[in-house]
Amino acid sequence: MPVPVILDCDPGHDDAFAILLAAAHPSVDLLAITTVAGNQSVEKTTLNARRVCEAAGIRGVPIAAGAAGPLHGRSEGVQLLAENIHGGSGLDGPDWRPTFGAGEPAVPQDPRDALALLVDTLTGHPAPVTLVPTGPLTNIATLLLAYPRLTARIERIVLMGGSAERGNTTPAAEFNILCDPEAADIVFGCGVPVTMFGLNATHQVRATPEVVARLAALGTPLSRLCVELLTYFASTYREVYGFDAPPLHDPLTVAHLIDPSLVSLVRAAVRVELTGTWTRGATVVDLDGVTGLAPNAEIGMEVDAGGFWDLIVEAVRVLGGAPERP
Ligand code: RIB
Ligand code: CA
Repeated sequence: MPVPVILDCDPGHDDAFAILLAAAHPSVDLLAITTVAGNQSVEKTTLNARRVCEAAGIRGVPIAAGAAGPLHGRSEGVQLLAENIHGGSGLDGPDWRPTFGAGEPAVPQDPRDALALLVDTLTGHPAPVTLVPTGPLTNIATLLLAYPRLTARIERIVLMGGSAERGNTTPAAEFNILCDPEAADIVFGCGVPVTMFGLNATHQVRATPEVVARLAALGTPLSRLCVELLTYFASTYREVYGFDAPPLHDPLTVAHLIDPSLVSLVRAAVRVELTGTWTRGATVVDLDGVTGLAPNAEIGMEVDAGGFWDLIVEAVRVLGGAPERP
């Protein structure tokens, strides 16, 4: 049976590939997409989710806009809207005009907001649903606060965020968590099973020139779009972080759902730092059990990058209509 999933995201180049993988693979039933401010404004992340679905021929998956900012207002000094990585549109690289001109994608925005779509989907689906957040956790925390009884309709939360090592936006904090630490604290403490794919795992899946060449070889409009996205993403990750190839963080969540053998997991206690002068937004992961705190999450650790990229390339092949290898 495919895993019923709601993807909560802030497209964002890597979020875009999470959408593609979730839509393409038969092991996942993508029920809905909700968007949140993070990499860009929620208006732009919502438009980008629509653009990706349009370009990939993904139809019938409702897309609803969510939070425009964190639960309790901006953290002081936190740089939001990762324009330095994802560009002014949030999905820089491709020239989107030929597809949409000055207009909008034909894929519509759902008239409901993200909270309503989350509630309707969770209550309407016959089985508990897996939530896959790949942006700031504001929408998920808002849902948990407003509808605590709906936790019974949530199978698990499989998120990209945090790190068992260092951060990427401050030395201690990863971007998604830092954008809304209070929301993350609520999610890690809600009692629903949480699986966390942090930077310590996602930095193992870098889109190398070999991966980009595999996508280019598919020779479809969608694969060309993916190459343009990854080429831009590589340029900003090189400029900002000095990476030789960009880590494609978000789709590791979906890849885990498809093939749990791809990433090793350990159970650990996780706490989100809320008050540290220099450490606010850090995920403090007690891998050695020294705190005595009960483990409250599974932590992704070692990744089979080859198996991950095989899934990504196959998803782009299938959605783009490229023939199977001769
Ligand atoms: O820190 C990486 C995360 O922040 C990814 O989800 C990326 O899309 C941004 O949201
Ligand atoms: Ca993201």
